[in-house]
Amino acid sequence: MAKWTIQKLLNWISEDFESKGIDSARLSAELLLSYVLEMKRIELYTQFDRPVAKEQLDRLHDLVKRAEQGEPIAYLTGKTEFYTLELEITPDCLIPRPETELLVERAIEFLRGRTGKQIVCDLCTGCGCVAVAIAKNFCDVQIIATDISDGVLKTAAKNIEKHGLKDRVTLLCGDLFDPIVPQLGGGKFDLIVCNPPYVSAAEFERLDKSVKDYEPKSALFAGADGLDFYRQICEKAEAFLKPDAALIMEISYSQGQGVRELLEQRVRFSEITIEKDFHDNDRIAIAKK
Ligand SMILES: C[S@@+](CC[C@H](N)C(=O)[O-])C[C@H]1O[C@@H](n2cnc3c(N)ncnc32)[C@H](O)[C@@H]1O
Repeated sequence: MAKWTIQKLLNWISEDFESKGIDSARLSAELLLSYVLEMKRIELYTQFDRPVAKEQLDRLHDLVKRAEQGEPIAYLTGKTEFYTLELEITPDCLIPRPETELLVERAIEFLRGRTGKQIVCDLCTGCGCVAVAIAKNFCDVQIIATDISDGVLKTAAKNIEKHGLKDRVTLLCGDLFDPIVPQLGGGKFDLIVCNPPYVSAAEFERLDKSVKDYEPKSALFAGADGLDFYRQICEKAEAFLKPDAALIMEISYSQGQGVRELLEQRVRFSEITIEKDFHDNDRIAIAKK
């Protein structure tokens, strides 16, 4: 019987994923194969003719079947990449999206325009992707990151440790700003960043199976119109912002106007910008005091 080599497997899995409509079929195949073989992706290409052992083939077969059912590759491998950083991921956590890198980009730009140590709050931190990416790329910062889920904070803690940021990122568990008050004794932030749940009831029903069936509803769903978290954040943000601070939030493509109105009604900002992403959809709300 002909041997299964890395090259043959890569081609076979890519074609299989392509035919099943799995996103980024070739990349997904590379990620699964490199995970099972414990190799870097580039090494797959330098060892194309290497035969793959039966035990690894069996494991790969199981993972390919699960991916075919819609299970996200990041949950199968337990890792993902965000802002060029490798992060650990569990099914408790939303998988960081490329769009959220724009939130990080704008946050870092804002911080670079200021002097002295910057105090940042990352609400709804999940696996810690936003906090870790900011702290990795901006040295003079102290970040407090909160999330309501104990489970995701365990993963965030691993990511903070993995990237050597334990002295600059502190995790707190609780509802939005609630855990911050006692911690800071009423202190204020230079910047608040947040990628909250923002999926409306109607949009939730239309989500892809791989999102709806596998990613945590608590990280996605935000009430009938998807604005529940923005309402609460806008309600409470004023008390946590320094006089020249900013609030930068990720939003859904349909929420630009709704979020702008909430920001205008609830906080005294001097400048509010709704920025589009690379698909030309509203994606980031930037509000400066
Ligand atoms: C859209 S995910 C964002 C995760 C991560 N920051 C990212 O950008 O990928 C939203 C996160 O909000 C958390 N969350 C939901 N309700 C919350 C609440 N009331 N207070 C704080 N965090 C909450 C969820 O556990 C989830 O981790």
